[in-house]
Amino acid sequence: MECRYFGQCGSCTLFDMPYEKQVEHKKKYCSALFKSLHVKDFEFFTASSSHYRSRAEFRIWHKDGHISYAIGGIEKKQVVCIENCPKVDIKIDVLMSPLLQQIEQNAMLREKLFAIEFLATQNDILVTLIYHKPLSQEWESAALPLESIFNIHIIGRSHKVRRVLSQEFVQDNVVVDGHSYIYEIIEGGFSQPNRAINTHMINWVYQHLTHCKDLLELYCGYGNFTIPLSQKFHKVLATEISKSSIKSALKNCELNKVEHIEFLRMSAEELTSALKKEREFYRLKNIDLDIYTFSHVFVDPPRAGMDEKSLEFISQFETIIYISCNPITLKRDLEFLTQKFTIEHFALFDQFPHTEHIESGVILKKI
Ligand SMILES: C[S@@+](CC[C@H](N)C(=O)[O-])C[C@H]1O[C@@H](n2cnc3c(N)ncnc32)[C@H](O)[C@@H]1O
Repeated sequence: MECRYFGQCGSCTLFDMPYEKQVEHKKKYCSALFKSLHVKDFEFFTASSSHYRSRAEFRIWHKDGHISYAIGGIEKKQVVCIENCPKVDIKIDVLMSPLLQQIEQNAMLREKLFAIEFLATQNDILVTLIYHKPLSQEWESAALPLESIFNIHIIGRSHKVRRVLSQEFVQDNVVVDGHSYIYEIIEGGFSQPNRAINTHMINWVYQHLTHCKDLLELYCGYGNFTIPLSQKFHKVLATEISKSSIKSALKNCELNKVEHIEFLRMSAEELTSALKKEREFYRLKNIDLDIYTFSHVFVDPPRAGMDEKSLEFISQFETIIYISCNPITLKRDLEFLTQKFTIEHFALFDQFPHTEHIESGVILKKI
């Protein structure tokens, strides 16, 4: 990928390495990091090195009535103004400049605009304009034409206010084992940033699932993994802390006509407590937790990794599938789990070319 901001923009720190070198660099880093866990080999899933990011957020820089996209520089406290970004989805890359020009021409849209978020799927783009001012009816009237000019959906956000102009979600699809699944992804909820790698991750997990009874999933988001993986299980119990992601997950079950998943809006810690019968929850009053025979646990926690109690709890089941966006916390959690489990498969998914970040997938079997 060529980018005129390489060396200034702080987002792509591996800018001076050709992509093949970056792959070697990441493999070497992980080999050293996981050496003590005796990982024999990593499968490595490479990504397209440009236009791979389906979501992006840019700050807005104001100067003399003009606005530009801004991003933190390689130098600390430096800000780099950019016109476009070749690593974001091509639809976002093409949209960035003309959209900003339209916004700049209208004081109601321009003033106090703090940041812009983009979320692109196969055919849709959702743009969130984030302000440091209240959003009036006048703002809504000024923003509405942008939707038809650019064929996008717009949401305005300011302190405690969210104005949805046409719809608060985008639709996407993913093909797993030859079967196509539809998703609605709601604004503000988590979504995987690299659509192509996301498809590889789900298929990789799917193909390694054997001896399946029921599945327990912690940190399920909008059901990205849950819905395709559910095809291999009798029943699924899945939990997630974000209310809006659970709303999407329920809708996604409907869209895909899946009826054997129970989605709960609870933290992993709360569900662990409930399953251990330590605490009772009103939210579980209509749910019988005793009907499940979990053979597999699937976890995809945030960067902080898992809390100790949940980690200990899941170590009673036969198979654990752990997806992680942070190799450091993954290593910490694997050090605990490998006291009772062996690592059967370990894959690295390059969700973020040109950066140090790496996504991992690990399948563990009870010793
Ligand atoms: C890395 S994302 C994975 C989501 C999903 N697996 C996917 O592929 O879209 C982590 C998710 O965990 C949720 N989360 C964060 N802390 C949590 C907690 N303590 N308990 C349950 N879910 C949590 C976040 O809202 C987010 O949706």
